[in-house]
Amino acid sequence: MSEPLKIVGLGGSLAKVSSSRAVLAIALEGAEEAGAEIELLDLRELGLPMYNPDDDELTAATARLVETMHGADGHLWSSPLYQGSVSGSFKNALDWLHVLGGWEPPHLTDKVIGLISAAGGTQGLQAINTMEFSVRAVRAWAVPFVVPVPTAARLFDDGGRLQNEAFERQLKMLGSEVVRVAERFRVEESPDHEAECEKARERVAAAA
Ligand SMILES: Cc1cc2nc3c(=O)[nH]c(=O)nc-3n(C[C@H](O)[C@H](O)[C@H](O)COP(=O)(O)O)c2cc1C
Repeated sequence: MSEPLKIVGLGGSLAKVSSSRAVLAIALEGAEEAGAEIELLDLRELGLPMYNPDDDELTAATARLVETMHGADGHLWSSPLYQGSVSGSFKNALDWLHVLGGWEPPHLTDKVIGLISAAGGTQGLQAINTMEFSVRAVRAWAVPFVVPVPTAARLFDDGGRLQNEAFERQLKMLGSEVVRVAERFRVEESPDHEAECEKARERVAAAA
């Protein structure tokens, strides 16, 4: 039997009670139920410094972030909707992934990513669309099914737990979908992944 896939959840806000963290945990449960090993990278708990290109030496927190994300087979990303987009803390975490450019394989090549947002209103898809640009930037693949959770104040209780079975089902489905697709990527992975990446780099450079 092959090793279980590793799926990492990145997100939540810096607030103590966070709806984007709560929905991320539910989606991770879905991935676990589908047979994956899971790990939550909670942005509040990580306490990442601001990314600065002049000072990007890894600290314990930033090393955990980039190593865990690079080592996983798939991810679930969840951001609150802030001013019509992803939160600054979520984007800062993505900015730290810049250091993965020199790793092997570079960036987050061929990772499978499921996207979630939690919003006060109904425009959570804007955060998801923004995340999708970043998915492409880090050379990963977003699964087509996404979960923008709207009107957070109405769907969550005071303890920040989701009180809506339909969204709970969708979030778990997204988690299992990331596992299903990551499994396919693993099956179809070239035995020589490094050489595949080199070929891809050459093709991209030749087309530039
Ligand atoms: C700084 C800030 C900006 C926000 N901007 C928006 C927004 O543009 N649209 C919206 O629908 N909700 C907005 N909200 C509401 C949050 O998206 C909503 O409360 C969300 O559930 C917060 O996620 P969290 O519980 O994980 O912190 C904003 C909240 C904050 C604190």
